[in-house]
Amino acid sequence: RAVAILKEMEEKCGTPIGKLRQVADAMTVEMHAGLASEGGSKLKMLISYVDNLPTGDEKGLFYALDLGGTNFRVLRVQLGGREGRVVKQEFEEVSIPPHLMTGSSHELFDYIAAALAKFVATEGEGFHVSPGRQRELGFTFSFPVRQTSIASGDLIKWTKGFSIEDTVGEDVVGELTKAMERIGLDMRVAALVNDTIGTLAGGRYHNKDAIAAVILGTGTNAAYVERAHAIPKWHGLLPKSGEMVINMEWGNFRSSHLPLTEYDEALDTESLNPGEQIFEKIISGMYLGEIVRRVLCRMAEEANFFGDTVPPKLKIPFILRTPHMSAMHHDTSPDLRVVGKKLKDILEISNTSLKMRKLVVELCDIVATRGARLSAAGIVGILKKLGRDTVRDGEKQKSVIALDGGLFEHYTKFSACMQSTVKELLGEEVSETVVIEHSNDGSGIGAALLAASHSQYLEVEE
Ligand code: BG6
Ligand code: GLC
Repeated sequence: RAVAILKEMEEKCGTPIGKLRQVADAMTVEMHAGLASEGGSKLKMLISYVDNLPTGDEKGLFYALDLGGTNFRVLRVQLGGREGRVVKQEFEEVSIPPHLMTGSSHELFDYIAAALAKFVATEGEGFHVSPGRQRELGFTFSFPVRQTSIASGDLIKWTKGFSIEDTVGEDVVGELTKAMERIGLDMRVAALVNDTIGTLAGGRYHNKDAIAAVILGTGTNAAYVERAHAIPKWHGLLPKSGEMVINMEWGNFRSSHLPLTEYDEALDTESLNPGEQIFEKIISGMYLGEIVRRVLCRMAEEANFFGDTVPPKLKIPFILRTPHMSAMHHDTSPDLRVVGKKLKDILEISNTSLKMRKLVVELCDIVATRGARLSAAGIVGILKKLGRDTVRDGEKQKSVIALDGGLFEHYTKFSACMQSTVKELLGEEVSETVVIEHSNDGSGIGAALLAASHSQYLEVEE
């Protein structure tokens, strides 16, 4: 019976190449629709107000604050301009107490402002601002925001594990600025960016061919450089560069071609945001382990997979985290010792047979492979939109895609599968022109770089 449940799951999660092509095409279609009009698609295709990516000329001391991944980070960087590049950099990682993720806006922003103030107080040698100048900050806020300028924007909705009603619709820069004022921290937010935008900016700083960024972490999303005149819903002035970076919010992508199962439907219904972020819920780190747990639970209930009773721990939502799943999936010991240990330590299931453990690994493989292949289809959708999915007139234009996030970084089988699927979809010749580059903490540096290029003192310098 348990094997039958597994086989059914495998079948429903299938991502043959034809299906992936349909998903990639649907992504391209939705991108067009989202750019055409506000509310035109599930893909919000948010305008970032970033019309120039870093050049390498950025100079001075800048701070960055990064909220929305597993950890919250603060960072300072001394930029030395073309010659010096990053002269010195320091960062600190602080975890967000879970109760703040569903509490009040005031409490959350007070907490992050306090952590920032504490960090600023440790500023030492190697960092300097010109006398009389205010310190400036790039704020990476990894949630969908309707920007009103480069340094302001209203929260559309929370995603991932956050749900704080009174922030929705508010300007998050205003919220942060008020919190900083309450504790007497004198700092100006010079740029508000999504983590994808920060990662793209960081990626471009290192590689001039970077044209898109993808996050595969707690959540998933992508940003890319669009031609400004290909954005019908943009009624502002055409930027000098002729370009505009778009935050796709692809986590909310949805298509009838997505292979969804009853487990995904139940997970969605019971989530903090039912009906939303469907692509994210089958791909990203917050959910993969939970999908595996749900299938195991069914095996326990309907096939007595773990004995006569259902192990009580197995019934606890989100108890099986994606890093646990990854550890089991990567277990190379002949008796699958790691799988046995994880089942025992996390789910309090002991005495599992090798056959059972093999089945668990297979299940991890099914769930991870679906996510990895679908994210590859998403990437190919972007390349298609940009006309970079074919080699034109023999011209080999290089496309660098900056990748970041814990899932990409730590779940090796996931990233390997994602990358080989991109190749499979593009074919050999085009694959040679597409480079997937890990941009480690690019989004922190990227936000600082964008703060630099939007500094209030820029004209004084010039
Ligand atoms: C980090 C970026 O490296 O990846 C963050 O700097 C981003 O901005 C994060 O949110 C996503 O990773 P995770 O796995 O922590 O969600
Ligand atoms: C979620 C957020 C998005 C972010 C992504 C990755 O999808 O809505 O803004 O970029 O997670 O962190």
